[in-house]
Amino acid sequence: MDFTNCTFIHGILIFLCVGCVQNKRKLKKNADDISESNSDLHLNSLQLLKRYGYPSERHSVVTDDGYIVNLFRIPRRGPPVLLVHGIGDSSDCWLVLGPTNSLAFLLSDAGFDVWLYNARGNKYSKGHTRNLSSKQYWNFSYEEMGSQDLPATIDYILRATSQTKLSYVGFSQGTTIFLVMCSMRPEYNDKIKHAILLAPVAWLSHLKFPFIDILTQNLEQLTALAENIGLYELFSENPALNLYHAQVCNISSPAKVLCDLEYYFSYGLKNISNLPVDRLPVIASHIPAGSSAKTFVHFMQGYVSKRFQRYHYYGGGKNTDTFGSPEPPEYNVSQVSAPVTLMCSEVDWFSGYEDVQTLRKFLPNIVNYVMFNKNMDFTHLEFVFGARVKALINDPVIRLLRYLE
Ligand SMILES: *[C@@H]1O[C@H](CO)[C@@H](O)[C@H](O)[C@H]1NC(C)=O
Ligand SMILES: *[C@@H]1O[C@H](CO)[C@@H](O)[C@H](O)[C@H]1NC(C)=O
Ligand SMILES: *[C@@H]1O[C@H](CO)[C@@H](O)[C@H](O)[C@H]1NC(C)=O
Ligand SMILES: *[C@@H]1O[C@H](CO)[C@@H](O)[C@H](O)[C@H]1NC(C)=O
Repeated sequence: MDFTNCTFIHGILIFLCVGCVQNKRKLKKNADDISESNSDLHLNSLQLLKRYGYPSERHSVVTDDGYIVNLFRIPRRGPPVLLVHGIGDSSDCWLVLGPTNSLAFLLSDAGFDVWLYNARGNKYSKGHTRNLSSKQYWNFSYEEMGSQDLPATIDYILRATSQTKLSYVGFSQGTTIFLVMCSMRPEYNDKIKHAILLAPVAWLSHLKFPFIDILTQNLEQLTALAENIGLYELFSENPALNLYHAQVCNISSPAKVLCDLEYYFSYGLKNISNLPVDRLPVIASHIPAGSSAKTFVHFMQGYVSKRFQRYHYYGGGKNTDTFGSPEPPEYNVSQVSAPVTLMCSEVDWFSGYEDVQTLRKFLPNIVNYVMFNKNMDFTHLEFVFGARVKALINDPVIRLLRYLE
């Protein structure tokens, strides 16, 4: 699972760093310095598109359960491709490397009609058609992104473009929700021309995140605690945190070790220059973008149960009431008949080698399978943000999608 910059160590480091974040005057001044020297730091998806001279549109999609999901589009007359970000992240992730290296820009240059999804609950997709309480609004996990957001999004795009199929590129949670959609609503398989799954996440038995045992040993209590104190949203966008990241992830910052440590403990990134150091402040200042606590709990349950299954309700026969069995049913990945490409890495903490092998056993229509070996030391985030992303991911993705046209 990618806790895309949303890990708990994050919280711990932030806590330790509260001293530096509280010096507001100094922060304000530095903020001005930073925005002069690199104005991408505070730009949202539409502003980034505008800055680099690309046409842009914003589209609102209403799901069957009333959530309002916002898409950004770089319109072209070419074939539509939908890009789907990881957990706690947003459409920004496909843009923050700038026009020479980011997948969204490169796909547009290659003639594709590019659509960028934003999961319910992230900074761009917080709306609902009804006035729900927080407790009601945040009552979703990755399952609803897959079973509600994606089908509504795909139907919307196909209608807007008068196409019958689109291509799909997902990263991490963006792959999980694709698998959920195609197994729970198999009629959507026919609307997918091809899906490229970067760092696919389904089974999580071999998750390597260092704090996962501590967290999951107490998962039921933690879940109850979060509910009791009304903590429904996690890692929401926070300007002070963005600024903190922009500062400590600057190569010339004396506090850069905080950035190194955070990326090491969150993703196993031993060498921070596997990410493009000149863009790192921009990358780091755009995450996190928020998600529901239930989403994180659902992913952690996968580590405990060793199954790729629906949300487990704690106590009181709620599973039986909801699913008709005391254990939640598994997602039936054999239903995912759409053609897929898997791109994975042996050292990925969240898309573990063994778990990918389990996924391969069940997926019926794998057209390409790429596994970067250990020596490449290619960690989770590098599938979207890496210094090698253009050569190893983006160029091959574009070649493949072009070939399939
Ligand atoms: C990093 O900090 C230096 C010194 O404050 C500044 O000149 C430079 O523009 C910053 N780099 C980025 C990418 O923000
Ligand atoms: C939404 O509901 C809350 C209480 O649940 C209430 O305070 C608020 O005024 C409502 N807003 C609208 C626009 O109805
Ligand atoms: C959350 O959703 C589940 C299933 O969709 C439902 O059973 C439950 O009652 C909901 N809880 C709240 C607080 O709305
Ligand atoms: C899963 O899907 C496959 C393929 O459609 C089907 O043959 C199988 O019976 C399904 N398994 C379950 C448990 O529903």
